[in-house]
Amino acid sequence: MVVVVVVVSLMIMASLQQKCFARREEPEEAVPSAGDKMWKTIARYERRAKAAAAARHAESLAEYAQLLREVAAGDAEIFSVMDYGAAGDGETDDREALVDAVVAAQLARRREVRRTVVHLPQGRTFKISRLALEGMQGIEVRIDGKILAPPMDDFQRRLGARQHRVRRQFLSPERQRMQFSVIEIAQARGVVITGLGGINGNGRAWWRVRKREPARRAPVLLLVRDSDDVLVSHIDLRDSPFYHVVVLGSRRVKLARLNISSPPASVNTDGIDILASSDVLVKDCWVSTGDDNVAIKEASSAVHVDGGTFYRGHGLSIGSLGEGGTSASVSDVLLANVAFVKTSNAARVKTWQGGRGVVSNITFANLTVAAVGTPIVVDQFYCPQSQHPATCGNSSKAVAIRHLVIDGVRGWHTSGVAAMLHCSEAVPCRVSLANLQLEPAPGCSNVVRCLNVFRLRSTDAPTSQIRSACARGDEMHGFRLDLNRRQRRQLAKNFSCVHP
Ligand SMILES: *[C@@H]1O[C@H](CO)[C@@H](O)[C@H](O)[C@H]1NC(C)=O
Ligand SMILES: *[C@@H]1O[C@H](CO)[C@@H](O)[C@H](O)[C@H]1NC(C)=O
Ligand SMILES: *[C@@H]1O[C@H](CO)[C@@H](O)[C@H](O)[C@H]1NC(C)=O
Ligand SMILES: *[C@@H]1O[C@H](CO)[C@@H](O)[C@H](O)[C@H]1NC(C)=O
Ligand SMILES: *[C@@H]1O[C@H](CO)[C@@H](O)[C@H](O)[C@H]1NC(C)=O
Repeated sequence: MVVVVVVVSLMIMASLQQKCFARREEPEEAVPSAGDKMWKTIARYERRAKAAAAARHAESLAEYAQLLREVAAGDAEIFSVMDYGAAGDGETDDREALVDAVVAAQLARRREVRRTVVHLPQGRTFKISRLALEGMQGIEVRIDGKILAPPMDDFQRRLGARQHRVRRQFLSPERQRMQFSVIEIAQARGVVITGLGGINGNGRAWWRVRKREPARRAPVLLLVRDSDDVLVSHIDLRDSPFYHVVVLGSRRVKLARLNISSPPASVNTDGIDILASSDVLVKDCWVSTGDDNVAIKEASSAVHVDGGTFYRGHGLSIGSLGEGGTSASVSDVLLANVAFVKTSNAARVKTWQGGRGVVSNITFANLTVAAVGTPIVVDQFYCPQSQHPATCGNSSKAVAIRHLVIDGVRGWHTSGVAAMLHCSEAVPCRVSLANLQLEPAPGCSNVVRCLNVFRLRSTDAPTSQIRSACARGDEMHGFRLDLNRRQRRQLAKNFSCVHP
């Protein structure tokens, strides 16, 4: 039985010409007066973020007061790292003190005491060298002070030859990148990490090196590996050498009200990466980074990203998947109610040519965007220069994108392209696109560009005034920027960038 499919984009003849003033990082430098209304929306989001920060702090303070009441009533027990020899001066390595406090808390955990809490008190800075905590069960770690990652040189010295050995392991490229971490929580069950404080990754030296040598490994700031029922909430994670939080091989993990921040020029500082995990909830987080705000990678399912603000960075990505001909699947993802501000994209699906696997049951709903480059991107020809210096060759294999629903994206973009859906000829994408209410920044075009995209249902005609244009795929194979040579030359003269 042949299923008749309809190409989403109808207006093939619509102009492909893009006009815009998009620039790399700081669009506010040249604010056109005609766009004042739009730039005001940014100010509104920034005020809202400040209010969210205050609310988050108040919530965490209330939670601490509650803990103290429970201690007084004999329902909770606190193990302060200060009682296990921590200096908390930002100089001394307090790793052993933290490990000792965790061990003591774990041994002392009794059924009649409801909560057992390891405490890093406020007003102190704990320098912690590379740390792996394995097998924690039913305890909490309350970080009210600051944890400071070791300087790059110290970290590398401790790592020694291991850094070079890792290449020989039989792991996917993504898993290899997640090999190292500053703090690793492994085989944990029922663990809570929360507090008024946070973890500073001391990442600047790493970014400098990795800008020159992208292949150099750097550690994840907080890695949750092979764990179930973990909650990480309220803490700040900043300036990671590499990804900030990674959830790997875990189930029922909740990341709530986190503040993740690194400067826009930092290198590969993804906010949250999820790999080979299921039942993960990312709730009301504030994420500002130099790379993906959230990335959902191979073998993950049932991931909900709900609420919060992604401020600077590349937005949420599913992928990249299928790198180096690998098989990679992601299913059952819901991204909803997130505000994207000054990110290069809002939601993306990125797959490499030559990969195998399926992306299915993905929904992007109720998103708002302000000063976002290209809000929606589906790219089955992903091949970034940083990860693959040579042009990627043609392949008829691709990770299939089988069921993607985009329903409700409001706001304004700066690239002239509201959505770009570039799918392979051999394995077309099935997408439903509805309720796109996107305006371009003043002077920009407002097009949807697509290639080999098939409609999922018949009820999903775009409701906005956006003109759809289906690029015929000139230079589509191994492309980096989907413009023809003439357009590219012209754009290079007029604009600092098109797709940042
Ligand atoms: C997050 O942390 C950064 C850096 O410490 C701070 O500037 C920002 O206001 C915080 N945002 C929220 C929402 O807590
Ligand atoms: C699709 O994914 C969503 C989000 O995880 C989930 O709630 C829903 O049950 C999934 N639908 C199917 C048919 O599996
Ligand atoms: C989108 O927003 C509407 C109105 O606020 C709400 O009813 C709906 O549940 C939201 N959808 C999702 C998937 O959160
Ligand atoms: C890739 O495929 C396209 C279309 O079939 C063809 O025009 C192009 O030359 C191919 N490129 C390479 C590098 O094989
Ligand atoms: C863009 O570049 C073309 C070619 O150099 C030029 O004719 C045109 O005026 C420029 N447009 C703007 C808006 O600067």
